[in-house]
Amino acid sequence: MRNLLVTGGAGFIGSNFVHYMLEKHPNYRIIVYDKLTYAGRLENLERVTAHPHYAFVQGDICDMAKVRETILAYDIDTIVNFAAETHVDRSILDPDAFVKTDVYGSYVLCEVAKELKLERLHHISTDEVYGPIPQGAFRETDPFRPTSPYASSKAGGELLVLSYFITYGLPITITRGVNTYGPYQYPEKAMPLFITNALDDAPLPLYGDGLQVRDRLYVTDHASAVDVVLHHGQLGEAYNIAADCEKTNSEVARMIVQALDKPESLIQPVKDRAAHDVRYALDITKLRSLGWAPQVSFEQGFAQTIQWYVEHQDWWRPIKSGEYLEYYRRQYVER
Ligand code: NAD
Ligand code: DAU
Repeated sequence: MRNLLVTGGAGFIGSNFVHYMLEKHPNYRIIVYDKLTYAGRLENLERVTAHPHYAFVQGDICDMAKVRETILAYDIDTIVNFAAETHVDRSILDPDAFVKTDVYGSYVLCEVAKELKLERLHHISTDEVYGPIPQGAFRETDPFRPTSPYASSKAGGELLVLSYFITYGLPITITRGVNTYGPYQYPEKAMPLFITNALDDAPLPLYGDGLQVRDRLYVTDHASAVDVVLHHGQLGEAYNIAADCEKTNSEVARMIVQALDKPESLIQPVKDRAAHDVRYALDITKLRSLGWAPQVSFEQGFAQTIQWYVEHQDWWRPIKSGEYLEYYRRQYVER
């Protein structure tokens, strides 16, 4: 494993993974392949642009010819697939792109990986494929019961990846991560949306009663878990990634206004998300057996995240214009 194609590497977790890998494995070559949708940003990779072991290719994972050409041009042996449409609310408004990228795009990567006999296809999946769990935690063998078009497309893509292992012996691994937060997260997701709105004294739109529970994983812990599975995971296996750090949305919203010294009255309950999953939780016994454990506590990760958004207004302010404002109006104004 030396030449990695990181698809979706200009997004939130993908770019953090690229930073992490170039530091941890200085002899690896990392090629980012990204369509640069509204969520993909070259600014996220500015820190590594001049790195001798890094290159960027703009392309769609649904474009089989371009994926093949890129893999051959850079002598790629491993794909790590972060590329996806990722926002649940957008999948409820417009599922089309989710089915294309998250299902068909995953198929394209499997096909090319099979044809070119790559050493590994690692696929990034999500806890949302299992659906909600009121108590306890899902293990990797539990059935999928996704509820949103996003979660269902991710489930479809992941099942295709697994089928390529079972049917053709393609060397794959899969990780299913919980709700992840940290620097470079697009401010449509709850935590960066709440932080950036609070900084502007704008309302924090809390869906429903705000009592939905999410496990909160700091992004470098997500990256290190993928690294561990890439190197020590068993082929054909899926691994849950979690932080054991459950918080309700309401608790997080309150922590944000307190940290920024803003009034609690900024938190405004709004109409709930359709089919809003009340809680996700994953058992990580299997991943712990590979020697991985989360390193960043919520207090530490939360403080670092707040500080990053305070100090990087030049990153998020330009995003909050144009297409973003159009989406924001569609999503929130009628709420
Ligand atoms: P993101 O939306 O920030 O980034 C997605 C990236 O994929 C962007 O750079 C985008 O340009 C790129 N992309 C989208 N469609 C593409 C296509 N057709 N071809 C090539 N590139 C394309 O997402 P994220 O939050 O960083 O999530 C990354 C992965 O992790 C996704 O697969 C997501 O399902 C999964 N995941 C996310 C979380 C989370 O909490 N953010 C948790 C678990 C799993
Ligand atoms: O759990 C993993 C998933 O986490 C990933 O697979 C997804 O790609 C990622 O987007 C994230 O999904 P969520 O739906 O959990 O994230 P989001 O930030 O959209 O919402 C987190 C919680 O906050 C959720 O319960 C809905 C709520 N919420 C969200 C928004 C955008 C609000 O209350 N108000 C909001 O405005």
